[in-house]
Amino acid sequence: MTVSDLRTPAVLIDKARTLRNIDRMQAGADARGIRLRPHSKTHKSPEVARWQLERGAAGICCAKLGEAEVFADAGIADIRIPYPLHPANADRVGALAARTRLSFIVDHPRVARDWSEALSRAGVTVDVLVKVDVGFHRCGIDPDPATALPFIRAVAALPGLRLRGLLSHAGQSYHATSEDHLREMATGEAATLRALAEAARADGIAIDELSAGATPTARYSLQQDGLTEYRPGNYVYFDRTQVGLGAASLDDCALTVLARVVSKPAADRLVFDSGSKTLSNDSARGFTSAAGYGAVVGAGAEVMPTMNVLPALVLERLSEEHATVRVTDGATTLEPGDLVRILPNHACVVSNLVDQAWLLDGNHVTPLPIAARGRIA
Ligand SMILES: Cc1ncc(COP(=O)(O)O)c(C=O)c1O
Repeated sequence: MTVSDLRTPAVLIDKARTLRNIDRMQAGADARGIRLRPHSKTHKSPEVARWQLERGAAGICCAKLGEAEVFADAGIADIRIPYPLHPANADRVGALAARTRLSFIVDHPRVARDWSEALSRAGVTVDVLVKVDVGFHRCGIDPDPATALPFIRAVAALPGLRLRGLLSHAGQSYHATSEDHLREMATGEAATLRALAEAARADGIAIDELSAGATPTARYSLQQDGLTEYRPGNYVYFDRTQVGLGAASLDDCALTVLARVVSKPAADRLVFDSGSKTLSNDSARGFTSAAGYGAVVGAGAEVMPTMNVLPALVLERLSEEHATVRVTDGATTLEPGDLVRILPNHACVVSNLVDQAWLLDGNHVTPLPIAARGRIA
């Protein structure tokens, strides 16, 4: 089957680019003796996770228990959930811990205590890491040792929990305004983790792991001292935002959406069949602003195989099923029926919207099930 046989919209995953992205990140981590534990949120596919593990990853991350259950069913033996799980899910955590090496994060005293009680009652001990807020201000404890140390000490003493170390996610890097800004974020994150780990060790608490991870900062984080683990997710496919943040080039981007022109209401307006149900409403981030809900990187006879941005086609407006495209240079030869290829602003959310993507090998496609997609709980 080839690309032109596909019904649209369809999500294409370029296999050669994916493997190259996996190999490059793994080589960067290996060169520094850092264990790579990719976040599966971007691909949500046991098959892609197996490629990562075969190429040297130490395990994977999942964001949700439902995703972890899918990967454990697929035989993935080491799963970390860097998400603040609630003890209401203790039964599922106990069951998962019985069939895979499971770990998760804690960042709240009462939640940690409730986990301890629930897991102790079940006769289970699970590895945990203390989540540290390194500037994203989403979750994680304040890194000030005056408040952080009592919490870390308390977690270390809780039965049912085995403290492994500290974990952070520099999600603020998606708002970086320059290369220097990204470098500062990566340097600051590692320094924060190291300082807190040193304070904890001086207090007699064993801290074996320092885990960080975000694709925009990866190229700087992997140069920092002290980190034992890195957890990038998006790097496996990259997207328009990562290009905007200097983390990837267009030629690194492995996930694209194949869509079709379904209407041409005016000479300067097209409608594609890839609305927010396919592309999501995420806008692009980057050092400079980028208009539209994705970039058109191929169209008509040139839809494959290379990718070149067609800046005159702006995906200006999305409805659920329609992408309304403004033709900024006034006219286009594209007509209804023509195929287009779109580089999405954010690859992870696109994976979550389809049960199946298509693995692209040259111009040939084979189904790639996205088994863990939609597992929101
Ligand atoms: C806690 C955590 N770790 C790691 C990652 C991976 O980040 P990225 O996709 O930027 O590589 C994420 C992404 O959301 C995350 O939330």
